[in-house]
Amino acid sequence: MCQSKGRDCSLILLVFLLPLVTSDLYVHNPRGSNNRLNENTATRTNPNRLFDSQNNDRGGYNVGDATDVAAGNDANKQYQMKYFQSGSGLPGDESYLDIEWTNQHGCGGNEDTSPQKQNCIMILQFMCQDGHVSVPDTDKLRDGVATNTQDYIRPGSLAENEDQKLSRKTNSVKPDRGLQELWEWYDKCNLRERNKGLFTADQKLTTNNGLGYSSAIYTRQNPQGTMRGYECPEERDYYPYWHPTLWKDISILAENRTMCSYHQSNSFNTQPYHECVEMYNPGGKRKHWSRWNNQKDCTNNGGKWVQFSNYLEKAPDYVSEATCVGTRNGMRYIWAIPYDAEDVEKKECLVALEKPDCQEAPWSRSNHLGDGNDGKNLNYRWRLPYFPSVHVQRCVFRMRYNISTDDYDPYHTDSSYNKAGNVKSPVQNNPEIDVGGPSNLQLALNTNQIGRVFQDRSHVFLLRPRHQNIKNGRLFNLNVRGKRGNIVQVYPAVEYDFTPNNLEITEKDMVHIQWTGSNTHNNNAPGGDGDIGDAGEGAEGTDRSNLVQLRRLNDNFPLPFESTTMWNNAEAMWVPYSAPGITAEEVALNMASSGYYRCMTTSRCTEKDNLDYIVETRTKLQNQLNNAPASYEGAVLRFRKGIYNYMCTRNNNFSNRSQKGTITVQ
Ligand SMILES: *[C@@H]1O[C@H](CO)[C@@H](O)[C@H](O)[C@H]1NC(C)=O
Ligand SMILES: *[C@@H]1O[C@H](CO)[C@@H](O)[C@H](O)[C@H]1NC(C)=O
Ligand SMILES: *[C@@H]1O[C@H](CO)[C@@H](O)[C@H](O)[C@H]1NC(C)=O
Ligand SMILES: *[C@@H]1O[C@H](CO)[C@@H](O)[C@H](O)[C@H]1NC(C)=O
Repeated sequence: MCQSKGRDCSLILLVFLLPLVTSDLYVHNPRGSNNRLNENTATRTNPNRLFDSQNNDRGGYNVGDATDVAAGNDANKQYQMKYFQSGSGLPGDESYLDIEWTNQHGCGGNEDTSPQKQNCIMILQFMCQDGHVSVPDTDKLRDGVATNTQDYIRPGSLAENEDQKLSRKTNSVKPDRGLQELWEWYDKCNLRERNKGLFTADQKLTTNNGLGYSSAIYTRQNPQGTMRGYECPEERDYYPYWHPTLWKDISILAENRTMCSYHQSNSFNTQPYHECVEMYNPGGKRKHWSRWNNQKDCTNNGGKWVQFSNYLEKAPDYVSEATCVGTRNGMRYIWAIPYDAEDVEKKECLVALEKPDCQEAPWSRSNHLGDGNDGKNLNYRWRLPYFPSVHVQRCVFRMRYNISTDDYDPYHTDSSYNKAGNVKSPVQNNPEIDVGGPSNLQLALNTNQIGRVFQDRSHVFLLRPRHQNIKNGRLFNLNVRGKRGNIVQVYPAVEYDFTPNNLEITEKDMVHIQWTGSNTHNNNAPGGDGDIGDAGEGAEGTDRSNLVQLRRLNDNFPLPFESTTMWNNAEAMWVPYSAPGITAEEVALNMASSGYYRCMTTSRCTEKDNLDYIVETRTKLQNQLNNAPASYEGAVLRFRKGIYNYMCTRNNNFSNRSQKGTITVQ
């Protein structure tokens, strides 16, 4: 204490126990955007473009380009990754995508070998939109071509009618900007009272959303209600969320296995949640929002408290409960009210979601963006969904990382501990602690950052149905991670490498080799708190990859085609162009040129769509792949028993940089 005379009270030592730098979860496969779009600068232009990441401005990867020139304002020249869905819901038909990330503040651990320093949860989710249903620009899931955040116009009054709502929406949503959550999702959030049962410590949350009350856009971590895309801040900060959401859970990587039953039983995948439903006028259309967030307020104000279910997709072919309910092709069907129903009196047939997978989060070191303690990239193998409609889906992947310490009990601290009157929050902003010396030490503790959620999301990707030839069997995705530049220039993103680095499969399995890159990874100023520049081979700013066989992993010269085994031992199951009787040599040529060539001679390639891709007639491929496309839709291959090492000729830079991998086929 500093009251006694003669003591020097002016000295306040600042001890930063937890660095206040924001920097945290980076997804590397699929490429996490960290809110980047296509900027040629090291830092992202707009940290609020689509979602609240809380990450460093330098992280993230640009959206893919389909060709060797930057897509710029032409969304059709962007490349969205195209993964094949699982072949059915049955075992043996899985498609797998390896999610890879780094997280800064550490996670996981157990008392014996690697003590836990913080509690943490990882939540992996996705959402999709049916690619066969035509949706207006106001609703279409997209990457966009401009880095601005979507606009939002608040309603003039709670009594607005449907026309007023529609004009507010059409004047808000801009077709050239990215869109992930729907406009209605954010509007609902802004108009719904916030959950006052939540712990907000001593943070002062905005009390008026412009219509006279505080709403779900204000939270402990976002007390002023900053808008990021159309993400709902309350839903972002809390999981499991008690209100219906449009996200589907993939997996929870929990702090320990004991927590799994809690997370799984509260997941909206299988646990229906309620929402207050009101109409524009009696017998009229449903309003998409309600101010009321609980049954009592809802019914007292003339609303209807309706139970909604989450689902993978609708199954309109089944029109009655009797024909709907059951399990077909490994998929479960339920008869329920979908969370986005217009008519809440009408149950529909829905393809159900399963409860999310749950396991203990992999251990990682604090203050370090590195591998797990098995020496591998932090990763999760996602079994991609199967959509019985066999419609292509536009999707986004989302991952959140939630850390908290034991400074307060995370599961039993609620609003009764918020600072008010005589109640002292168990944690306060920058408290000073008495360490017995002449001065108190101030802890670097910000109550909007204890118990903190970080996030990264992918760009849009497609989940497409399996082609006839590859309908059954397991399929593994093999991709490229990283972006142009040396390690300090790209940090906290990563340099190039194949992922998964070491794929172990059987002769029955299939591999879809595919990659995406940008032509604007120049990494120019501003660099934020890191280095700028894009050291690398070939044209500045451009990502390129290819795949050629190597004899041994510690070689750096690829094998000449005549000596390769990889291609003669491979069967091309699918390529994105017509190629009857495609030969091993043609597959090798296609991979080595990143899709620039398909065949050697015109006599081999007579199909119309291949005429521009023939070695004999096409402008020569530049030897560092400068004129090859940045993205490669790839091929689905099946390999015979063997060990196949491969590399990328452009980026693999001897002792400086390794872009190599191995496929082991048992
Ligand atoms: C983060 O953890 C806190 C408990 O510490 C919990 O209340 C909150 O719901 C979690 N949020 C997310 C998004 O996981
Ligand atoms: C698991 O985590 C929860 C939440 O932090 C904690 O209350 C519980 O004691 C932990 N259980 C074990 C077995 O470590
Ligand atoms: C290899 O990497 C170094 C360091 O990033 C770079 O300066 C050099 O240009 C690269 N290329 C070759 C062919 O050495
Ligand atoms: C590796 O990088 C260094 C500079 O960092 C460069 O001098 C050297 O030539 C590079 N090696 C190769 C083989 O490219």
